[in-house]
Amino acid sequence: MTDHPAAPVLPRSQPWDASAYDRAFSYVNVLAASLLEWLAPRSGERILDLGCGTGDLTARIAETGAVVSGFDRDAGMIAQARTKFPSIPFDVRDGHAFALDAPVEAVFSNAALHWMTRADDVIRCVHEALVPGGRFVAEFGAGANVAAPIAALRSAVTARGIGLPVLPWYFPTPAQHATRLEAGGFEIHRLDYFARPTALADGQTAADWWRMFGPSVLAQLPADQVDDILRQVDDMLAPQIVDADGRWIIDYVRLRFIAVRRR
Ligand code: BEZ
Repeated sequence: MTDHPAAPVLPRSQPWDASAYDRAFSYVNVLAASLLEWLAPRSGERILDLGCGTGDLTARIAETGAVVSGFDRDAGMIAQARTKFPSIPFDVRDGHAFALDAPVEAVFSNAALHWMTRADDVIRCVHEALVPGGRFVAEFGAGANVAAPIAALRSAVTARGIGLPVLPWYFPTPAQHATRLEAGGFEIHRLDYFARPTALADGQTAADWWRMFGPSVLAQLPADQVDDILRQVDDMLAPQIVDADGRWIIDYVRLRFIAVRRR
């Protein structure tokens, strides 16, 4: 058996079902353990978890004695986070447009920034939220992230003469994002860009991946052609991405960084 982490099973339409998110994303917290080491929270320091989902990592940060709060754009996620961790303040806020009453020593974000497509707005808000010298520690999908499912969908759509759908994600190259951070008043202290191939749950295919993660993309296609398009996507990808154990491996790629607000 090859060693690939299992992929999340997300609901098919957004806003997301927070309970399904919790069932599906437990592996994300395992993979994020080393990102928490990059954050290195200290007791008493104020930290914001941006795109906190249902709050599991926020709670891990709180265990260190840091004074942490969590923001997420999805009301269902925040409701679930509040139920699970009633002592932590969670709020429904958009990462593109938020301001804090008092600045924090660190902003943390895991697997959320690729859903925030206006990166300069996010960087500006994070900069304003930090004390001078404060750190922005994050990991998200970047560069060639999920290139195979995207290429297959584009190919199937083009073959039918349908216009290419707009994707709802921000996957910058490391250089693009570093340039943005520097222009936004940050100094990069550390930056990694790495592949993290991830196995879909047993029985799931690339078509399921698209239905789970790209409902807004599929909604741009003629409804009566979606099933055929996704069948063709599976046919194209199966020889490339199904491993010896019959699992579909999605080509996740991560960008991880520590950026410090210039004084
Ligand atoms: C990601 O985690 O990289 C990702 C998840 C869903 C859609 C696109 C990217």
